[in-house]
Amino acid sequence: KLSYASRKPPVTGTFSVDRLEEAARSKLQDSTDAFMYIFGSAGTGSTAEANRAAFRKWTIIPRVLRDISQRNIETTLFGHTYPSPLLLAPIGAQGIVHPEGELATAAAAGALGVPYIMSSASTRSIEAIAKANGGGPRWLQLYWAKNDELVLSLLSRAKASGFTALVVTVDTPFIGWRPFDLDTAYLPFAHGVGAQVGLTDPVFMASAGLEPFPEDEHPDYPYVAAHQDELIKNNDTKATVQTRAGQRFVGEMLDPTKVWDDLARLKEHWDGPLILKGILSTMDAELALKHGVDGIIISNHGGRQIDGSISSLDALHSIMKSRNIKEAQARGDFTVLMDSGIRTGSDMLKALALGAQGVCYGRPYMYALALAGRAGVDSQIRAMLADFEITLGLAGISTIDQLRLYADDLVHRD
Ligand code: FNR
Repeated sequence: KLSYASRKPPVTGTFSVDRLEEAARSKLQDSTDAFMYIFGSAGTGSTAEANRAAFRKWTIIPRVLRDISQRNIETTLFGHTYPSPLLLAPIGAQGIVHPEGELATAAAAGALGVPYIMSSASTRSIEAIAKANGGGPRWLQLYWAKNDELVLSLLSRAKASGFTALVVTVDTPFIGWRPFDLDTAYLPFAHGVGAQVGLTDPVFMASAGLEPFPEDEHPDYPYVAAHQDELIKNNDTKATVQTRAGQRFVGEMLDPTKVWDDLARLKEHWDGPLILKGILSTMDAELALKHGVDGIIISNHGGRQIDGSISSLDALHSIMKSRNIKEAQARGDFTVLMDSGIRTGSDMLKALALGAQGVCYGRPYMYALALAGRAGVDSQIRAMLADFEITLGLAGISTIDQLRLYADDLVHRD
């Protein structure tokens, strides 16, 4: 069994959540559009703040004098056993903070066996990310595109590349009002970044009247940002195609017309678990169950979509009051995951005590990627797992099953 705690100082320079963010901000000071894209939220940032405030409202009531010398944080989701309840949240455009982008993240997660949820707005292709992820578990996040043929092409590429679960993001019929990104006119995306999945897709490129891009010709950021305009002016075909096709792909991927009944079409073409990401309402959680999806990720997209929405932890607490959801979860028919605001092992414990079976880690791993590439992501994941294992033990709990058993008495809201 892996032990995650080590006495070595972290390669990112810090184990503090706040310092990590500050270190990334200063490392990216020449690329503030990249930092602000990651850091930023919708509107005034009140949802992102609420996510953190909700974790502070709940407190842990530890138990003592229980033998917690042997701790095991392994967790089973959809019939697979993973090292812990931690997954990596899908984050697009990773190449804007590190030249290896998603390859570094997928490699770090893969080596630890932590599920990597690949964003369909990645700066690397499905196939390249699968290769970097190696024997690790990987799920595909789908922005449910307008063009049905394109969706089917992405699903079949994912299946062929060993992605086992499909995460359909349903809180993004279009992008939220994000002042920081609007101030820079979405600079990275204006250059076609985050569209490598489209540039390497035969259906998408044929619809644009173009040949798919070979994988090694991915758009490198900030190189792209610095040179693209100049390249286009000089009639550089590759740069022009990248930008034009990239912008078009980002537009193509979001579809505000999709409704619950459309899920049947996806289910027809995906035989693994199907999970909806971005559920906050109990009624929607029950609709998800009714439409036969296998699970949900309760999430407000890290506060990036609606300013002033319910915090993700409060939404989890509400949704778990539904008897239908609870019973389906107990039967093993419905899996409840959550993200938005997870920063520490104690946050993980609180989310699990409130009924989540797994949690997705977001912005902090991007800061670690910016600071130290693959080694940074590796050390950041290990830190989370060590923190969780220590906190669990200090609360008097040895395993995830035990956590579930004692959940009601383990946390308290002031
Ligand atoms: C995201 N998120 C996201 N979600 C998704 O379904 N597809 C995507 O491509 C992206 N891209 C993305 C980019 C960046 C820079 C961020 C910060 C987030 C949302 C992500 O999966 C997750 O819900 C949040 O990151 C969770 O909030 P915290 O923990 O980062 O605050």
